[in-house]
Amino acid sequence: MKITILTLFPEMVEPFFSSSIMKRAVERKIIEYEIVNFRSYSSGAYNKVDDLPYGGGAGMVLMPEPLEKAILDKRSSKSRIIFPSPSGRLFTQEIASELSREEDLLFICGHYEGMDQRIIDHYVDDEFSIGDYVLTSGESASVVIIDALFRLIDGVISRDSLEDESFKSSLLEYDQYTRPERYCNSSVPSVLLSGNHALICSWRDDNRIAKTMRSRPDMLSEASLSLRMRRKLIKIIEEFGIEDL
Ligand code: ADE
Repeated sequence: MKITILTLFPEMVEPFFSSSIMKRAVERKIIEYEIVNFRSYSSGAYNKVDDLPYGGGAGMVLMPEPLEKAILDKRSSKSRIIFPSPSGRLFTQEIASELSREEDLLFICGHYEGMDQRIIDHYVDDEFSIGDYVLTSGESASVVIIDALFRLIDGVISRDSLEDESFKSSLLEYDQYTRPERYCNSSVPSVLLSGNHALICSWRDDNRIAKTMRSRPDMLSEASLSLRMRRKLIKIIEEFGIEDL
């Protein structure tokens, strides 16, 4: 997959591509990336990229010309152009999975009060919000979106790691423990030391359901639970009552 990022602050994005799992994916040529400072597409003595909003109001707006030149120079016939913005539709795991199958993604990082609407209307395929809050810039939102999608590309991380993941089955992941067995006056649940895989699986399922009910009850209404998991859910509700979870 090719990922291109149009930004005014390359230094905000570069470390992500040269660290950890992404670094490995780049080295293994699963991902190719290009970070482009679109200020280099502006003209005039000061390389201006923003201007006052028509109609008045606070802040500055990104001008269309430098962005358009950068897009036309860097997009390919396969590019899907993404603009992270608080006005977009909510980015989800399902969208991450869909984007992970694309060949070429181009991200435009907004700044200041936003960018000229004509760029969005003419060039942007998807406007995504990563949540109901406002960030100072699109760089961090782009990195969040790229992080969520690139790990789903075949060969980036192991299949096993993706198997039990939160959101995939509309349940949060079970609690994890490692050594030492006793820490801060509390012990690892004994079932995890039992070596009995059936019991461990059953404990993990219970734990996922209880955790989801506690932290994200909204997810349960949309969960496509197997009959076995539905039975567990009913049992847990009967045993503890919703308020006690
Ligand atoms: N840019 C600023 N805030 C954002 C958000 N919540 N999601 C995506 N892009 C953004």
